[in-house]
Amino acid sequence: MNTGIIKNICVVGSGSMGNQIGMLCALGGYQTTIQDINEESLQKAKSHLVEIMEKWVAKGRISAENRDLAFSKLFFTTNLNDAASTADFVIEAVVEKLDIKRNVFHELDKVAPPHAILASNSSTIVNSMIAEVTNRPDKICNMHFFFPPLVMDCVEVVMSENTSEETAQVTMDLCKQINRTAVLLRKEIYGFVANRILLALSNEATKLYESGICDYKDIDLICKKALNHPMGPFELADLSGIDVGYYAQLQLYNETGNLDDKPAGCIEEKVMAGNLGRKTGKGWYEYSK
Ligand SMILES: NC(=O)c1ccc[n+]([C@@H]2O[C@H](COP(=O)([O-])OP(=O)(O)OC[C@H]3O[C@@H](n4cnc5c(N)ncnc54)[C@H](O)[C@@H]3O)[C@@H](O)[C@H]2O)c1
Repeated sequence: MNTGIIKNICVVGSGSMGNQIGMLCALGGYQTTIQDINEESLQKAKSHLVEIMEKWVAKGRISAENRDLAFSKLFFTTNLNDAASTADFVIEAVVEKLDIKRNVFHELDKVAPPHAILASNSSTIVNSMIAEVTNRPDKICNMHFFFPPLVMDCVEVVMSENTSEETAQVTMDLCKQINRTAVLLRKEIYGFVANRILLALSNEATKLYESGICDYKDIDLICKKALNHPMGPFELADLSGIDVGYYAQLQLYNETGNLDDKPAGCIEEKVMAGNLGRKTGKGWYEYSK
């Protein structure tokens, strides 16, 4: 199979990542269906994308005709069968919980055509942990986009021992078609590359904050002014969702049992209080609507 035969793409999950991944695919010329179990999330996704694309048109990044063309290829549904039964390629972007992802892949394996590649956008869950509930482990890989996918150029494509060369190549080629720079990781590792580096940074930042060495705002300031990072670790957590990082780290802790991997108390408090960052209007910082 080559990217030429990919006509239909299904994106499962319409949250922070899924909606923009779907838009990227539609912009790349693919007939794309975004599926979510939550109708409200789909509605939010649709209006969010309309808003973003309106800004792109206003800034001259895309013509109104090409925007309309992309939207004519983009569909939204709560029905997984409708979304996946004609898909040549599926990108899963549901919540970062292993049991939920395994259920989704089990269903996808039943409804998607046998030739379809099933890729997971998980930030941390390696594809072999999901592939084992399917009958097509050679057609499973990670396709890890970064937030926000319409802005961030990089995609980590990760193979397991069972992922075929063809699956890796088609996925790399698809990234190119949707205008993204893909990097191939031939071996699985928790957190892949970018997030391992990011986790080390944010763990250190949280430790410094919790031990009273420095306020979180000042840690953000130091990272920006001394290290030339575009934003500090706490600002970044608010942007990508404090819960996303929390569940990712919880997953690591459950795997390793290492207390150093346990999510920090101050992060758990925010998740339990529903202060998840920009998406809820409050995280480390407050955001007006
Ligand atoms: N947010 C980030 O910065 C980021 C970056 C890279 C990768 N990721 C990964 O992307 C995935 C999604 O993250 P997100 O931030 O978009 O999460 P999110 O919470 O914003 O969205 C998840 C969506 O999945 C939907 N969903 C839940 N169960 C479902 C099911 N069974 N079938 C269909 N839809 C279902 C929810 O209704 C929700 O709309 C995660 O695996 C995460 O690790 C996130």
